[in-house]
Amino acid sequence: MTSPSDDPRTVVLTGGNTGIGFCTAEALLTSGDRVVLGCRNETAASEAVEELRRRTRSDLIESRPLDLADLESVRAFAASLADLERIDVLINNAGLVLDRRTETAQGIEATFGINHLGHYLLTELLSEQLIAADSARIVVVASVAHMAASGGIRWEMVEGSGRYSTGRAYGQSKLANILHAEALTARFAGTGVVANSLHPGGVRTGFGKDGDTHGVNATIMKVSEYVLISPEAGARTSIFLATDPDAGRISGRYWYHCRRSRVAPWTRRTGDVEELVRRSDELVARLS
Ligand SMILES: NC(=O)c1ccc[n+]([C@@H]2O[C@H](COP(=O)([O-])OP(=O)(O)OC[C@H]3O[C@@H](n4cnc5c(N)ncnc54)[C@H](OP(=O)(O)O)[C@@H]3O)[C@@H](O)[C@H]2O)c1
Repeated sequence: MTSPSDDPRTVVLTGGNTGIGFCTAEALLTSGDRVVLGCRNETAASEAVEELRRRTRSDLIESRPLDLADLESVRAFAASLADLERIDVLINNAGLVLDRRTETAQGIEATFGINHLGHYLLTELLSEQLIAADSARIVVVASVAHMAASGGIRWEMVEGSGRYSTGRAYGQSKLANILHAEALTARFAGTGVVANSLHPGGVRTGFGKDGDTHGVNATIMKVSEYVLISPEAGARTSIFLATDPDAGRISGRYWYHCRRSRVAPWTRRTGDVEELVRRSDELVARLS
């Protein structure tokens, strides 16, 4: 085992049992951080923790249960972190794409619920511990797929009355991720907390291949394997935003290839950030 530094940074990372999150956790553990994973599958989580211990020779890794599809589980996960005096880095990484309309435990469209709303509540519940870290970073794993959400978020789809489309549902959940990082910049103004979002690239992970997509969508996911980058390469921008000294002074930006990038202009309108906050607050209050 590596000898831990006297005061390692504490990183909370959602969905680190596989894919981009696993590689991000591996790199941060290797550089001496303490990492707490939030995972929904207990068996996969303990296997990942074992493998991360083996690879990094660090024992500063653990997993606690988190199902982002249930706001009660999000609250329980946040409560389970009460022993952490400060959180230096929060990485909102977990996410999925669903080609059939599915609902969270509280009855909203699940792609939006898992990719955005669960993370929205989690970030709020951890806000005091983030502020306590003096210079904390929030890293939100979004996607270039936000480009599919032209004209902003269709709230009727989130709430259940709108027609479901896989691309739209995923795209608008990822647009919400980008808007969330912008909203957090205002939310934490005057504290040392910064928040940024990113596109990891097209990455060869279990994404969309674990039974969440079928038929044509599943075939596209399988065929695209050949042009995708490795999970290690896909984790680079997350790791950069979690560690780079200069990036730690920038907030509210969207990144790709460890560089600032632009959000597609047709995806958003004036007031979208404020509307996301208002609607997310309202949903959390109504559904909890
Ligand atoms: N792969 C790409 O090409 C790509 C491109 C752009 C953006 N992204 C984004 O990158 C992030 C990581 O994706 P990945 O490629 O690493 O995919 P992945 O290998 O499928 O990993 C996704 C992770 O999210 C977890 N997760 C899913 N639903 C959850 C829930 N309800 N509660 C808690 N955890 C949950 C998964 O847990 P289980 O193992 O239990 O399912 C898994 O750990 C996602 O936000 C995705 O949108 C990926």
